[in-house]
Amino acid sequence: MTAPMLDRTPGVAGVAGVAEAPATATGTAHAAAAAADPMLPRPFRVTARHLDTRDTVTLALDPLDGVPLAFAAGQFTMLHAFGVGEVPISISGDPRSCGPLLHTIRDVGSVTHALVGATPGTAIGVRGPFGTGWEVGAGQGGDVVVIAGGIGLAPLRPALLELAHDRAAYGRVVLLYGARSPEDILFAGDLARWAAHHRITVEVTVDYGPPDWTGRVGLVTDLVPRAGFDPAHALALVCGPEVMMRAVATALVARGVAPERVRLSMERNMKCGVGLCGHCQLRELFLCLDGPVLGFDRLAPLMDVREL
Ligand SMILES: Cc1cc2nc3c(=O)[nH]c(=O)nc-3n(C[C@H](O)[C@H](O)[C@H](O)COP(=O)(O)OP(=O)(O)OC[C@H]3O[C@@H](n4cnc5c(N)ncnc54)[C@H](O)[C@@H]3O)c2cc1C
Ligand code: FES
Repeated sequence: MTAPMLDRTPGVAGVAGVAEAPATATGTAHAAAAAADPMLPRPFRVTARHLDTRDTVTLALDPLDGVPLAFAAGQFTMLHAFGVGEVPISISGDPRSCGPLLHTIRDVGSVTHALVGATPGTAIGVRGPFGTGWEVGAGQGGDVVVIAGGIGLAPLRPALLELAHDRAAYGRVVLLYGARSPEDILFAGDLARWAAHHRITVEVTVDYGPPDWTGRVGLVTDLVPRAGFDPAHALALVCGPEVMMRAVATALVARGVAPERVRLSMERNMKCGVGLCGHCQLRELFLCLDGPVLGFDRLAPLMDVREL
């Protein structure tokens, strides 16, 4: 299990010794300019860096202009590593908090490598937030099943924080999470807290378990048929590799969850994030605008289309 998760609490700013900047008239003007031109990155500064696993880091960012960035659970930003490039990354913090902006990033290539290596004080450009959110509130009054594969738990963390916060408004809440190995398990502190204090059933499985691993080994998809939720009134939120999402969504629908109540985050290649470049086009959909979160009713016929 990894160390407790860094969070958007006053303590985080304290870790890096960087106080939150107050909003100023100039700062508000900078933020307004960025809002008017969505291609213009706003400068943020890394205030804390938390190593989640061997290849994944959570960065806490504060806006240099002092104007906090409001977002909905499931939305993403374009993060700009100056001199290297820009990539889409989901926001992994609490939408209700006004502390630093959190992103959890896995090191897979040149830009994510630069971001993962950013130390406190580094300037990062931020555009957004962009895209659709999980719309967790649509699950109120019924059961909610959250299914994550690998880094897919990061885009789902804001939704889980919302569920934990408004726990009484929901029936059963189940998190099914698949990681590559025990040392790749993200947010171990959150998982324990959600289970212990928020009546969230947390089931973790890994692809490869060492001899001392006493938990489950196997695919997260295999957990769907017997997970404890009522499919007739369930909302399902799914994020992970596309092959996993398709298998999970098919298993959920086979159990009786309505396809439009199965929401997937389609994280395909994106460049502009605002519907200009066409990189994310999936037949009639622009995933940066119409997604990334979309219902399986719309996605099922499109998931065979290869990405650009
Ligand atoms: C809406 C959205 C939200 C995302 N949220 C997160 C997040 O919260 N945390 C995170 O770590 N990553 C997230 N990603 C994926 C992230 O954008 C890619 O890992 C990044 O663009 C890779 O860029 P790179 O220059 O580091 O690597 P590249 O050199 O561009 O790619 C390295 C490897 O990663 C693969 N790759 C590139 N883009 C993606 C992608 N979108 N999905 C899967 N594999 C990809 C490439 O095929 C290649 O094998 C998100 C992507 C999208 C579209
Ligand atoms: S990323 Fe450019 S149109 Fe969607």
